[in-house]
Amino acid sequence: MPKKRSPEKRELRIPAHLAIIMDGNGRWARSRGLPRQAGHRAGTENLRRTIKACGDLGIKILTVYAFSTENWGRPDREVKGLMNILADVIDRELSELHANGVRLRHIGELKQLSSKLQDKVRGAIELTKENRALTLNVAWNYGGRQEIVHAIREIVKAGVKPEEVDEALIEQHLYTAGLPDPDLIIRTSGELRFSNYLIWQGAYSEYYVTPTYWPDFDRAELEKALENFGQRERRFGLVLNPSD
Ligand code: IPE
Ligand code: IPE
Ligand code: MG
Repeated sequence: MPKKRSPEKRELRIPAHLAIIMDGNGRWARSRGLPRQAGHRAGTENLRRTIKACGDLGIKILTVYAFSTENWGRPDREVKGLMNILADVIDRELSELHANGVRLRHIGELKQLSSKLQDKVRGAIELTKENRALTLNVAWNYGGRQEIVHAIREIVKAGVKPEEVDEALIEQHLYTAGLPDPDLIIRTSGELRFSNYLIWQGAYSEYYVTPTYWPDFDRAELEKALENFGQRERRFGLVLNPSD
């Protein structure tokens, strides 16, 4: 009898820095006849599972888009609901994240949040700042254009001369200063756009889009994305075989 062939081993490429646009909570809820807030809650649960999966897979930096500068334009009730979720997550999950060695960071502007929420976020960052198992950047009130404006303001304030402005200096003033650019950016729920996410840092990131709504993006989906990433040929504008 011929020997049964074992299924081909899938090659997952583990990015040093993975970024995710966690999109589709609203549609996930609507497809179940639930209010949008239920979708956001389900999305938060999925973030918890994803952090765990990333840790298991050896991903060291995870950056998630959770609230954009444009999301303030949603109905008041939804914005309030999202702010409440952020507060609840910090209250409920912080000690476990800390115990698991997660370093929490924030990218975006904190000052438009309530002072109570700002304090909560700052407290979480302070508590976990020495952790190194996984760095989790939460993009909250984040916009890529706003980030670049912020960087330029800092540079102008420091009185830098025009000829001293270069890419490295701009990078030092981004919220992600000191972190490598994301290798892979995943967007759930099928939209083919950046929506103002990491527009500087993502210049050479690989993109992966799946129709799956964020609350349903499970570990198998993540592994599928990493397998697909493993098949990409990253050229960074160069030619692979200069002798051809
Ligand atoms: C992503 O899901 C979460 C946030 C933008 C806060 P959405 O709320 O955008 O869900 P859809 O895109 O309406 O389905
Ligand atoms: C991007 O999703 C922002 C987050 C996932 C937090 P949106 O749902 O806000 O983006 P658009 O409106 O579809 O471009
Ligand atoms: Mg959306």
